[in-house]
Amino acid sequence: MELTDLEVHYGSRRRRHRALHGVSLSVAPGETLGVIGETGSGKSTLARAALGLVRASAGSIRIAGEEVGAYDHRQWRALRRRGVVQYVFQDPLRSLDPDLTIEESLAEPLLIQGVAHGEAARRVRSFLPRVRLSEDLLGRLPGELSGGQRQRVSVARALVTDPKLVILDEPVSALDSANRVQVLEILKELRATGVALVFISHDLGSVAGIADRVAVLYRGELVESGETRDLVRDPRHPYTRLLIGSAPTLRGAAADGAEREALRALLHV
Ligand SMILES: Nc1ncnc2c1ncn2[C@@H]1O[C@H](COP(=O)(O)OP(=O)(O)OP(=O)(O)O)[C@@H](O)[C@H]1O
Ligand SMILES: [Mg+2]
Repeated sequence: MELTDLEVHYGSRRRRHRALHGVSLSVAPGETLGVIGETGSGKSTLARAALGLVRASAGSIRIAGEEVGAYDHRQWRALRRRGVVQYVFQDPLRSLDPDLTIEESLAEPLLIQGVAHGEAARRVRSFLPRVRLSEDLLGRLPGELSGGQRQRVSVARALVTDPKLVILDEPVSALDSANRVQVLEILKELRATGVALVFISHDLGSVAGIADRVAVLYRGELVESGETRDLVRDPRHPYTRLLIGSAPTLRGAAADGAEREALRALLHV
């Protein structure tokens, strides 16, 4: 995905609110881009624009070589149905239909693509080990799973179609630290498929262990971006410094064991 000079406004012509201004960033196949910023900085707006759920007022959006920024609703819908770009929300209950069994939820994106029922069922089952889910869960409803299991189902649902791009909006924020570490591990493994991941979080600590590069949003503008290690070691923008100062895992204090280990390995300390 390549965004160039992206602008997004909300509201009517008289009461316009600029949510994103001049944002340019890209993520390549097999790469994970972390997008961080405080509440209201425009992270979810960026995700919505890249999924065609909110319209860009200026700038360009290229996904898998296609210029999609000026697509109308019908074209966006067709792109999403083709499974080229998928997403995972913070709250897994929002990504999963409460009335569908886990098996139906996981098969749905494949069936939409025109995959036959038998083949869809086979692909769903063969995907389960990659997200550490057992087949026993397939007959259950989302409400009958734990939060961590539900989020792993959402990740599986997003990746089962073999998309080119997956946008994850705060995918681990609602999870306890054990589940957070597990979902991060799963995502790390899935990177090997060559998918491009955009990982959105308000917490640099969650992103640092998985992202190759990090982009920092502040009040709708991209204030800094770079290789994760460089950005953590040598932040340029005062706001990035503030974020690092407020991420306990990055200061090495009071951190969860596994997360701290992951960060140590990353930073070679
Ligand atoms: N539907 C909407 N209509 C009007 N303004 C909106 C709408 N959605 C978001 N905004 C505004 O746009 C700005 C960016 O919102 P956005 O949801 O992208 O932030 P965020 O970085 O995802 O925040 P959070 O960390 O709280 O999820 C905020 O000022 C918000 O109030
Ligand atoms: Mg958000």
